[in-house]
Amino acid sequence: MRELSMHILDIAQNSIVAGASLVKIVVEENLNEDFLTIIIEDNGKGMGENELEKVTNPFYTSRTTRKVGLGVPMFKASAEACDGSFRINSKKGEGTYVEAKFKHSHIDRVPLGNMPDTMVVLVSSDIKIDFIYRHIRNDKEYVLDTREIKDILGEVPINSIEVLDWIKGNIIEGIKELHIN
Ligand SMILES: Nc1ncnc2c1ncn2[C@@H]1O[C@H](COP(=O)(O)OP(=O)(O)OP(=O)(O)O)[C@@H](O)[C@H]1O
Ligand SMILES: [Mg+2]
Repeated sequence: MRELSMHILDIAQNSIVAGASLVKIVVEENLNEDFLTIIIEDNGKGMGENELEKVTNPFYTSRTTRKVGLGVPMFKASAEACDGSFRINSKKGEGTYVEAKFKHSHIDRVPLGNMPDTMVVLVSSDIKIDFIYRHIRNDKEYVLDTREIKDILGEVPINSIEVLDWIKGNIIEGIKELHIN
C-alpha cells in the first residue's frame, strides 16, 4: 500500500462487515521513541480461536466472491517490513483489536496518507456506526467522536454533505495543529 490510511480503511471495513457499532481508530506518532502505531478496535462479532489463527494467513477468507483475504496479512507485512510489529486479538461475540507498529523513520514506511477523506468514507458508509478517531503526535492529541457530533446534530443526518465537509475540515485542522510545535 502506498499510504497507511489505505490499510486503516481496509481494516476498518472488516469491522463494518463484522457488524460493529463502534470502531476506534488510534494513530500514535512518537518522534522521540521513533514509532508510529495504528490501532483499529471494534465491538463486532469477533473471531474464534481457529479463525483468528488463520487470519494472518493470506489464503484465509470468509469471503465467497474471491478466494484470498489480503487485508490483515498486508497490514502485518507492512509493519514487519518497517522494523515494527503486529498484533491481533479477537473474541467471538465481543470484538477485535488490531495493532500495527512501525519504526517512524524507517525508509520503507509509507506516509500516513489522507486521514480526512478516509474518515469521511467510513463515517458515511453507515450512519448507524460510530467512529472515534484519535491521533496523538508526541504530547499533542486530536479526537473526533461521531457520537458527540450526532448529539449536537439532533435530526440532521451525519452523512449530509455539509456535515461531512465539516468533519473533513475539522480533521484537516486538527492534524495541522498536531504538527505545530
Ligand atoms: N474485525 C474483524 N472482525 C471479525 N472478523 C474479522 C475482522 N477482521 C477480519 N476478520 C475475518 O478475517 C478474514 C480475513 O480478513 P482480511 O481483511 O484479511 O480479508 P477479507 O476481508 O476476507 O478480504 P479483503 O480484505 O482482501 O477484501 C475476514 O474474511 C473475516 O472473516
Ligand atoms: Mg478485509
